[in-house]
Amino acid sequence: PRIAILFGGRSPEHDVSILSATNVVAALDAERYDVLPIFVTREGQWLLLPKGTTPSSAAKVEEAVEVSLVPGGHGRLLAIPQGAQPYEVPAIDVLFPVLHGMHGEDGSIQGMAAVARVPLAGCGLLGSVTAIDKDIAKRLLREAELPVAKALCIEEDSVPSFETAARELGLPLFIKPARQGSSVGVSKVKTQEEFAAALAEGFRHDSKLLAEEFIAGREIEFSVLEHANGEITISLPGEIAPAESHGFYSYQAKYIDEAGAALRVPAQLPKEIEDALRKTALQAFRALGCDGMARVDFFLMQDMSFVVNELNTIPGFTNISMYAKAMAASGISYAEVLDVLIDRALT
Ligand code: DAL
Ligand code: MG
Repeated sequence: PRIAILFGGRSPEHDVSILSATNVVAALDAERYDVLPIFVTREGQWLLLPKGTTPSSAAKVEEAVEVSLVPGGHGRLLAIPQGAQPYEVPAIDVLFPVLHGMHGEDGSIQGMAAVARVPLAGCGLLGSVTAIDKDIAKRLLREAELPVAKALCIEEDSVPSFETAARELGLPLFIKPARQGSSVGVSKVKTQEEFAAALAEGFRHDSKLLAEEFIAGREIEFSVLEHANGEITISLPGEIAPAESHGFYSYQAKYIDEAGAALRVPAQLPKEIEDALRKTALQAFRALGCDGMARVDFFLMQDMSFVVNELNTIPGFTNISMYAKAMAASGISYAEVLDVLIDRALT
């Protein structure tokens, strides 16, 4: 089958996506799959790259062809060379978005796949839409009676005072854009001045923010993978241990500073806590309407109570990312994860 890997994209996680996609393309079995790398520029143009181009070199490629998916076209792509008539390039069998954040992980591409009638690898429209929005996700998780951190939803016309936020949530608190990944635009706030600065920074990234209580706890994550026959694998737990110096698992700690965080797989947990978290991970996956794939992130407190922090429907996807590591520890290699996602799309 011909697999289009979409990567790059308009979100601030553009570079993270290139890392993820470089690993995906390298791991796809060349005998089995005909891989079409499609680079989504920061402006959102789709550029089909020559076969064999590694995503990490996408920005330097000159002979790329702009393409578009044809509505109802069963994966037909139209090439749009400048100044000439459009011509067709081979139809694709599976669209595999390896895009993080808005305009990729948020349902937009998933909806586009549905309109184009092309099988999609990974989470579909509904789960993508609900999981990307931390405010909507929290409402659905609460509705399903799953534990979440206390939060206030903030929009430009409903900004609480620092006193109100501090009274409701305690200090420190976090300010987060509602629809961003990789901790972009997230700040930890202790003072009135920091609160004002954090709101300004947050609003640079989204028109909706969350003020959230600070949860002092361990960060525990599970990888969820749905197979073509509907069976769901929930991985062993992984644990993120951010270095003390970073204060929290920031963008810097995630991608810039190699010593920013340690990934421990499997996380050492009492059996009954691991079971409770695993059960909750599946409930959260279902509560948000997810299918295919997600990484479910928790905070586990000292007293062993926990909250669901968030779900990522296209989690960081290199072969050393938590998603892959936790799956590998559970007996499903990185290449097998890709096979499962593609098989399920084609079923
Ligand atoms: N948003 C990043 C890629 C993650 O959740 O892993
Ligand atoms: Mg995220």
